[in-house]
Amino acid sequence: MVTVSVIKADVGGFVGHSASHPDVLDTGREELERAKQRGLLTDYHVSYCGDDMFLIMTHDRGEDNEEIHRLAWDTFIKATDVAKKLKLYGAGQDLLADAFSGNIRGAGPGSAEMTIDERPSEPILVFMGDKTSAGAFNLPLYKMFADPFNTPGLVISDPLHHGFAFEIHDVKEHKKIVLNAPDDLYDMLIFLGAPSRYAVKRVFNRSTGNIAAVSSTDKLSLIAGRYVGKDDPTMIVRAQGEFPAVGEVLEPFTNPFIVEGWMRGSHQGPLMPVSLKDAHPSRFDGPSRLVCLGFQLANGKLVGPRDMFDDPGFDEARRKANEVANYFRSLGPFEPHRLPLDEMEYTTMPMVAAKLAERWQPLE
Ligand code: F6R
Ligand code: MG
Ligand code: MG
Repeated sequence: MVTVSVIKADVGGFVGHSASHPDVLDTGREELERAKQRGLLTDYHVSYCGDDMFLIMTHDRGEDNEEIHRLAWDTFIKATDVAKKLKLYGAGQDLLADAFSGNIRGAGPGSAEMTIDERPSEPILVFMGDKTSAGAFNLPLYKMFADPFNTPGLVISDPLHHGFAFEIHDVKEHKKIVLNAPDDLYDMLIFLGAPSRYAVKRVFNRSTGNIAAVSSTDKLSLIAGRYVGKDDPTMIVRAQGEFPAVGEVLEPFTNPFIVEGWMRGSHQGPLMPVSLKDAHPSRFDGPSRLVCLGFQLANGKLVGPRDMFDDPGFDEARRKANEVANYFRSLGPFEPHRLPLDEMEYTTMPMVAAKLAERWQPLE
């Protein structure tokens, strides 16, 4: 069995919140290389999307392993020291806990982990988002694993034909439910269509029971009780064979659907699929970006990555995302570009409401 752990955090932006500094990423690589040398990790790859650093790790310790989580935490602490020296923006932004206490979950960084029995050939896709939030993967996961117009394999490939099970988390009430596609489709969509509250955590193949996908569902603001930056998400998806083909996994991103995030984590806008070279959101701190790195696992080694959205096939999605971005921007501070009052990560409402309290008059 091999465990794939992706643990990510924003430990400082360069410049502002737009990108990651090479020295911060190098610190991540040095720490993980040391862990590989001492046998804790089988392999690793450090990457980025915008101001977030993603530690992609393989090992044999299983999920929620204290040593692996401590390695990630310590790596983020070291990278924060580098960010502080360079006076990068928001150094240590996502490290909410004062000290590591056994598990990275609830401490600020986002994580997605899966333990698998590596197949004779194991293609995996690691998604890395910036300027968006947990729940952004609801729509694409639905399309990949439940929509035959996206994934013809659901109709014409026997190993996919019995459908997939979705583990959905209620991120506010800390509850979960498993719903099956296609049987529970209509029930499922009432939740998935409300991604600020309900997020798909895992997906399983119903005939084999094997895990197909896992995403991070950490909500920083719910952890800290106040705005502390967006919970830019990550996700791991297995492809081919009993799972959707690589092209079926990537197909949902040809339509730049609308996600929460963007400027001040308080706006709606399109999710733009980009290659690493374009993973630097600077137009109105966005629009929200998504990178996908593809790997072949070989006895736990990460063969890759391939930069999956580095394909002219996604040019039209990027063009459309810019067009949608312009339209949304034209709405300025009005909903639905601006998020509803209780969803905004920044607000002056309590201050303004207090100031104007006496000027409000009862209606006649
Ligand atoms: C969004 C994000 C940025 C900041 C914005 C203001 O997730 O990180 O859009 O919210 O640049 O940042 P501060 O308040 O730090 O000046
Ligand atoms: Mg930041
Ligand atoms: Mg970010």
